Amino acid sequence: MTPVIARTREELAAARKSVPGTLALVPTMGALHEGHLSLMREARARADGVAVSIFVNPLQFGPGEDFDRYPRTFEDDVAACARVGVDVVFAPTRDVMYPAEPQVTLKSGPMGSVVEGASRPGHFDGMLTVVLKLLNLVRPDVAVFGEKDAQQLALIRRMVADLNVPVEIVGAPTVREPDGLALSSRNRYLSPDERRTALALSRALRAGADAAAAGAGPDAVLGAARAELAAAAAAEPPLEPDYLVLVDPATFTEVTADHAGPAVLAVAGRVGATHLIDNVPLQLTKEH
Ligand code: PAF
Repeated sequence: MTPVIARTREELAAARKSVPGTLALVPTMGALHEGHLSLMREARARADGVAVSIFVNPLQFGPGEDFDRYPRTFEDDVAACARVGVDVVFAPTRDVMYPAEPQVTLKSGPMGSVVEGASRPGHFDGMLTVVLKLLNLVRPDVAVFGEKDAQQLALIRRMVADLNVPVEIVGAPTVREPDGLALSSRNRYLSPDERRTALALSRALRAGADAAAAGAGPDAVLGAARAELAAAAAAEPPLEPDYLVLVDPATFTEVTADHAGPAVLAVAGRVGATHLIDNVPLQLTKEH
């Protein structure tokens, strides 16, 4: 079944009426891959109808970031949506989303300026602003986001709680290649050699998660993960590590050395011109 494609607010309103019952939204920037499809399947299971938005949001890209070269693969994206039974694709132009230069935008607060937010100032403000606009336009009952962008997901949950946005937020697990690489639209920038180096990110997370499962505390978990990154930093082409942190899943503040309970081990690095992020949820036990 081919989804209805809505490009304007009017077309979106008409399309919404054509889908009876509850609606789940999967916001995306296109360049859809198997990770996005898993979000759509999750959405299917949660509501009567599914809408996918495709919009490369200029507000969440900083100067010198990859807004211009971000992959745009609209035809393939619509075909992928059709394969999983998406009802509506909302694909607004920039003018539809931002008819005027926005004056009033969201501030992501302290949680938006740490970890990924420290490397990408303003990124989470722009992301939250567009997500709230999409929620206001589509008015879904449920919205589904990937755990791959764990800080984004935590911030969206916080925005919905702080601003009383009437939607249920659902997180869906990261999808990985068989060798561990987390699926990302940016993986298509990688040459085969760069891809090999990039595997260090998921290897580092695996090493940290294994250490945590064996009862290690925060310092040892970070140490195990750091060893993998150090090896990749010396590889050719090298990985330029950006951060490796163990944080509270809800606040993204770094956990203390005696922390027990859930945590997220998050990593980011640059290979060539490509900035990649990954994370793994883990449990830290008391006896370390
Ligand atoms: O995760 C993404 O693709 C984007 O950040 C989102 C949530 C669609 C907002 O532009």
